[in-house]
Amino acid sequence: MYTEKVMDHFQNPRNVGEIENASGVGTVGNAKCGDIMRIYLDIDDNGIIQDVKFKTFGCGAAVATSSMATELVKGKSVQEALNITNKAVMEALDGLPPVKVHCSLLAEEAIHAALWDYAEKNGLVIEGLEKPKSDIHEDEEAPEEEY
Ligand code: FES
Repeated sequence: MYTEKVMDHFQNPRNVGEIENASGVGTVGNAKCGDIMRIYLDIDDNGIIQDVKFKTFGCGAAVATSSMATELVKGKSVQEALNITNKAVMEALDGLPPVKVHCSLLAEEAIHAALWDYAEKNGLVIEGLEKPKSDIHEDEEAPEEEY
């Protein structure tokens, strides 16, 4: 059901943890499955993401997509990170089962929420970044399996 890369990132997730005094923190969740993801970004004065950590209370696909998303944004500029979609994260993992696609959205939304927090704290406007709708997304489908 899952690709080797998904299993690898699920069993050995990269960049798990917290960043104290992070430049930006984003928390998003799915009200129906109860999964929550928090991403911490450390962004330098040149707008480059020097470090990123995450915590996920969620399913295996949420863990794997968060792990891969952190790998993809590390070392990138704020604008480049904004352009990393859940599709790119899924492609980097060689795909996800259709029922798990919504899990990959959590990672994208958490990054956007963390970038929004960073922009707000620094009085910046990041072109193309929209205000996170809410911390909890109630319009998602309930998962068909549990972990
Ligand atoms: Fe809820 Fe994966 S994020 S089931």
